[in-house]
Amino acid sequence: MKALILSGGKGTRLRPLTYTGAKQLVPVANKPILWYGIEGIVAAGITDIGIIISPETGEEVQAKTGNGDRFGANITYILQEQPAGLAHAVKIAQPFLGDSPFIMYLGDNLIQSDLNLFCDKFKTELLDALILLRPVSNPSAFGVATVDSKGKVLQLVEKPQNPPSNLALVGIYFFSSKIHEAIASIQPSARGELEITDAIQQLINGKTHVEACQLEGWWLDTGKKDDLLEANRIILDTRVTTAIYGEIDTGSQVIGRVQIGKGSKIINSTIRGPVAIGDNCHIENCFIGPYSSIANQTMLIEADLEHSVILQGAKIDSIHQRIVDSVIGQRAHLTAAPRRPKALRFMIGDDCQIELA
Ligand code: DAU
Repeated sequence: MKALILSGGKGTRLRPLTYTGAKQLVPVANKPILWYGIEGIVAAGITDIGIIISPETGEEVQAKTGNGDRFGANITYILQEQPAGLAHAVKIAQPFLGDSPFIMYLGDNLIQSDLNLFCDKFKTELLDALILLRPVSNPSAFGVATVDSKGKVLQLVEKPQNPPSNLALVGIYFFSSKIHEAIASIQPSARGELEITDAIQQLINGKTHVEACQLEGWWLDTGKKDDLLEANRIILDTRVTTAIYGEIDTGSQVIGRVQIGKGSKIINSTIRGPVAIGDNCHIENCFIGPYSSIANQTMLIEADLEHSVILQGAKIDSIHQRIVDSVIGQRAHLTAAPRRPKALRFMIGDDCQIELA
């Protein structure tokens, strides 16, 4: 069995972060979202992995993720010139996939469950497609399934205005090689994409063996800021254990589960876990509260924050109000005058959201 991870697309919903970087590389507890997917796939015993990349962010994804050695996998990168749809990504990956059954994994999805259970069902029941479903409160934002009383899938529709049910398609699918014929028979949708939901519908119409499982545990589609903060909270809560490699001075206090990377210095500060701090950070006169992730090479001086994600190279200096529920992009600077400022001075890029609460 092979795996195909989709890490192309434009990532418009995480703008402005994704103007300069791939949304699948945005870190959750200081690890790129994409890597959780790779690790889950390898844990299910699948090591032959293709990753779809885009011309805009492909190089960065490739440089950061490498050839798979660090995961015990073999990674092949497949360039998709345009984000022409999930089924289009499968189409261009056909030379890599051959006739092999495969798991298709959307690179911005994170799930709690391991994949083994689903892999086993897919293999032992010789299915042509296995999809995962999950009740959601906003089905219009997803592919939506109608199932009969026995749980058999009747119909799939992509982001319907009037959803026929509350069962969303999770971005993890298992396919036999029959999906390629189904994709060859569909046309682009109204939004101009070759939809994987339409291809699965073809399989259902052709009376091939399509099954659905309800996904238990948490599932996050990290496409938006609040989802990203929630993913960060859950991963810090469930997967972070204490590991301290940096230096903590005697004026500082570290409480609870906290990771501090190599070369980082904590000076006269309080860190209350769960918190992940990367390598080579400088943290001085700060309070870093629960559910914060601070990436490598950040500098925080006189800052007070919690439930926030600070990306690599950012600098926060002398902000005396507490920063909460925030995502601060790579190399962003947030500074204030030493005394209470009489005026605010900004250099704010397109699509930033700044709330002076
Ligand atoms: O997350 C679950 C949802 O994912 C499903 O419920 C929907 O049925 C499915 O269409 C998909 O919807 P999204 O709107 O979330 O898809 P998005 O455009 O965000 O793309 C998902 C991933 O695939 C993302 O990592 C980008 C990548 N991608 C996307 C497209 C359209 C590609 O690599 N190539 C593409 O052409």
